[in-house]
Amino acid sequence: MTQKRTSFSGGFGFVLAAAGSAVGLGNIWRFPYLAAKDGGGLFLLVYLILALTFGFTLLTAEVAIGRKTQQGPLTAYNKLKNSKFSKILGIFACVVPFLILPYYCDIGGWVLKYFVAFVTGQGEAAAEDGYFGGFITGEIEPIVYMFIFLVIITVIIYIGVKKGIELSSRILMPILLILIIGVSIFALFISHTDENGVTTTGLDGLKVLFIPNFDGLTFQKLIQTIVDAMGQLFFSLSIAMGIMIAYGSYVNKEANLVKSINQIELFDTGVAFLAGTMIIPAVYVFQGAEGMQASGPSLMFVSLPKVFAEMGWIGNIVGAAFFAMVLFAAITSAMSILEAVVTSLIDKFKMSRSKATLSESFIGFVLAVVVCLGYNVLYFELKLPTGSTGQVLDVMDYVSNSVLMPIVAIMTCILIGWILTPQTVIDECQANGEKLGRRGLFSVMIKFVAPVFLFLLFLQSSGIFELLGIDFFNG
Ligand code: ALA
Repeated sequence: MTQKRTSFSGGFGFVLAAAGSAVGLGNIWRFPYLAAKDGGGLFLLVYLILALTFGFTLLTAEVAIGRKTQQGPLTAYNKLKNSKFSKILGIFACVVPFLILPYYCDIGGWVLKYFVAFVTGQGEAAAEDGYFGGFITGEIEPIVYMFIFLVIITVIIYIGVKKGIELSSRILMPILLILIIGVSIFALFISHTDENGVTTTGLDGLKVLFIPNFDGLTFQKLIQTIVDAMGQLFFSLSIAMGIMIAYGSYVNKEANLVKSINQIELFDTGVAFLAGTMIIPAVYVFQGAEGMQASGPSLMFVSLPKVFAEMGWIGNIVGAAFFAMVLFAAITSAMSILEAVVTSLIDKFKMSRSKATLSESFIGFVLAVVVCLGYNVLYFELKLPTGSTGQVLDVMDYVSNSVLMPIVAIMTCILIGWILTPQTVIDECQANGEKLGRRGLFSVMIKFVAPVFLFLLFLQSSGIFELLGIDFFNG
């Protein structure tokens, strides 16, 4: 049965949904860690420049492709230009969200578990050594939480674009914003005196985040900072995951695309900076510079619960607010990941929304169970080409994030910049008479600068440099 393509109720509905997709775990657990690692303000500056150039270019291209073709990622590129190249690109762009969905739901389940722990006053227990390890190596509990999380996003996507995606974004995003601003302000006012009588305040931590640290800065370190910022930017803006094409395809022809793209960029970057303002001062006050070494899961599920526990009774409330905020961010991102696959199935195979949603959620569930079991019965230690060791989750993350996403981004640049023309995207953005600012920048970026830098990013993130024994980035 062919479904009529619905659309968001207007530009603002689209902006909230797309910002909901963009603001996710990437902003909250990876951005602050990278900022601390790569020289604070220096990283922020590099990130901002890249967001306004690379981020703007690829976000604009994807949203415009979606709106122009009114198709999901699997078929959109081919509708733009019927070729083998486009077909392969469509498949890659659809495989990325297919691979990310299972492990994103697992992590969503972890967030849900911690939210429940803090709401039920078990913050102290959650801060104990071994709590996180004990939880994720359990055979049943992580699967149960993942399942609940998956059911939530399945229901939203099953309901559809307007009443599911748009309405939930309209409800969750303002709450998320209030929570993140509230916790950030709180983080600035905390202070702690250690056993030597030295008092550290949240504002000291804020300086670490915002003041550029040029100590020991070499050319190689600068390149590494750029590569880190670029990888982060992609994940954070939900670029090269098929998502922005899917959401762009639900934007009606009257909406002002240029304004919406600017607002999405602003929202995502603003939240990433707020996440830094929330997390870095809090960790710095209680754990000093060492605490900032933690990244990813250990930052969110090990370091932060300890920080909340140090705050005393109020820690449970702050922890509950924090994990509610992360949960909302994870839900609005995970549902966009699911939607990218669902809309592809609908467009390509003319499936009904209900059938496409239930089929993809079921497959996602099975794979997510495999990821959960990767920490117990299916445990292995695989050395990845990047040199790190990983379990099932890390392998899926490596293939999707480090290999396929840069390839999708490079191929998109080639398609728009060379096989078609940048004007294709510019025309779509200006369809209603509005002017796309940075037009010249867009053309130069998509044709020349982005493909070259993305190729370097690919060599680095996939570990090819490492395999070739090139230690260019560590100088
Ligand atoms: N953009 C989403 C995130 O940052 C996927 O988590």
